[in-house]
Amino acid sequence: MKIAICPGSFDPITWGHLDIIRRASVMFDKVIVAVLVNPEKNPSFTAEERLAMINEVIADMPNVEAECFEGLLADYARMKHAQAIVKGLRAVTDFEYEFQMSLINRKLNPETDTIFLTTSVQHMYLSSSMVKSVASFGGDISEFVPECICEQIKQRLCRKN
Ligand code: PNS
Repeated sequence: MKIAICPGSFDPITWGHLDIIRRASVMFDKVIVAVLVNPEKNPSFTAEERLAMINEVIADMPNVEAECFEGLLADYARMKHAQAIVKGLRAVTDFEYEFQMSLINRKLNPETDTIFLTTSVQHMYLSSSMVKSVASFGGDISEFVPECICEQIKQRLCRKN
């Protein structure tokens, strides 16, 4: 069975992430969305909240599951017997950091390769931090995240609440 991991903070998940997850789900037998438990990054949503949002939006993808992880991604990938880590690239500016991460991960775990998918053009500008910034000022985020999690994000982040 070919297994891929889509790792990230997902604080919160956006249409950009979902596009990469969906495309990975076509290429692999199983995709594990791995949510980094990273309190030092001071996330807006707890790992449990991020996981719950992801579970809602992946419900229509039978070969995709989500869980939280702590520690090194390379160790997690080994534990899951994953052939690949799948990441999205939005722009050249993403590349240097992602390239370095992929080299380190491969050094730590030579059994798991990193595969980069080019973002779909309509998601090029999307990031969790942009979504949070727009939501914090009461802006419309309905085109950036799935409808079923939109209200929860607005409720948490809008400064007018
Ligand atoms: O969505 P993000 O914040 O860009 O995701 C980053 C993530 C979770 C992929 C990355 O921070 C990660 O893999 N963290 C786990 C720790 C690790 O393995 N670091 C690489 C060696 S320094």
